[in-house]
Amino acid sequence: MTSMESLIGLVNRIQRACTVLGDYGGADNNTFSSLWEALPTVAVVGGQSSGKSSVLESIVGRDFLPRGSGIVTRRPLVLQLHKTESGSHEYAEFLHMPKRRFTDFAMVRKEIQDETDRITGKTKQISPVPIHLSIYSPNVVNLTLIDLPGLTKVAVEGQPETIVEDIEIMVRTYVDKPNCIILAISPANQDIATSDAIKLAREVDPSGERTFGVLTKLDLMDKGTNALDVLEGRSYRLQHPWVGIVNRSQADINKNTDMIVARQKEREYFATSPDYGHLASKMGSEYLAKLLSKHLESVIRARIPSITSLINKSIEELESEMDHLGRPIAVDAGAQLYTILELCRAFDRIFKEHLDGGRPGGDR
Ligand code: GDP
Ligand code: MG
Ligand code: NA
Repeated sequence: MTSMESLIGLVNRIQRACTVLGDYGGADNNTFSSLWEALPTVAVVGGQSSGKSSVLESIVGRDFLPRGSGIVTRRPLVLQLHKTESGSHEYAEFLHMPKRRFTDFAMVRKEIQDETDRITGKTKQISPVPIHLSIYSPNVVNLTLIDLPGLTKVAVEGQPETIVEDIEIMVRTYVDKPNCIILAISPANQDIATSDAIKLAREVDPSGERTFGVLTKLDLMDKGTNALDVLEGRSYRLQHPWVGIVNRSQADINKNTDMIVARQKEREYFATSPDYGHLASKMGSEYLAKLLSKHLESVIRARIPSITSLINKSIEELESEMDHLGRPIAVDAGAQLYTILELCRAFDRIFKEHLDGGRPGGDR
């Protein structure tokens, strides 16, 4: 990266600031919600067991998500990836535990589980309150992804009947937003016509301009069949190309197959595949990560003017709120507002640099 901070990194910081102020893009009709709504995000949607967690872990190159049968993801997970200098140490941080750096990713998994239970109380309930996790690593691209509970058709024992609908409502609050990029995950060993992800994407994004179709489990298709009709856009046409993926199988996971080894195996799968060899350079999780990062950056760049004007509005509102509270501010709320006001001013300045000076080296 050049002297300018990456656009995705900047937007990550604004998202965190909005969250600290207590807005989750919910119903609150204030400037911070509008700002959050204006920020582009990538949401991962799909049916249960379609491979959502596996795709996220492949993109990160790390094993860190809770697993198991049933509804494992019960709160949205806002996952911010920050690319660091090569050779630097990988670590993770939660917004709710800012002082702790996680270097053991098994502990990250445990904390996601514990933090989920803290809100949902160990029942199998879901909650729309997101968990924010940042991962700093030389092996990632700059990207923000939101993992959401899997769409499901039936409630299991111990779950309220309304859970099917509740999950759909939660997923919709994200994918309904025109600024949401939809990562629609469908398994190749099921008919694409029955895909929960495509069904929802088709509804909220009929032109397919903000949907990225991802086809997992290519290795699990019946012998003698292939997914070329889907991957080449004949089954369901999207504006962006479909990306095929081969994640770790359950047996690989049980054997603790390393993610980096898995990426390598995936590359080999496509390179040597009689069916997909001609598409090999545009398949796989590494390609998907780069494609998304590039797309997210261009979407952010296009939105700079509107984001800047919202930030200016936030600054004005915060300033008047500060005046109202009076200075110097002793209470916590005031101190927090002050910090965020400073952040907003910094964002405004850096955005203007991007707007004027234009073209940083990018986030790849
Ligand atoms: P989620 O419920 O959508 O998050 O799905 P998971 O990522 O947890 O995957 C569900 C199961 O499918 C796990 O046992 C994975 O190992 C397996 N799986 C996911 N993707 C693939 C794939 O591309 N190939 C194979 N063989 N198994 C996969
Ligand atoms: Mg999952
Ligand atoms: Na999760």
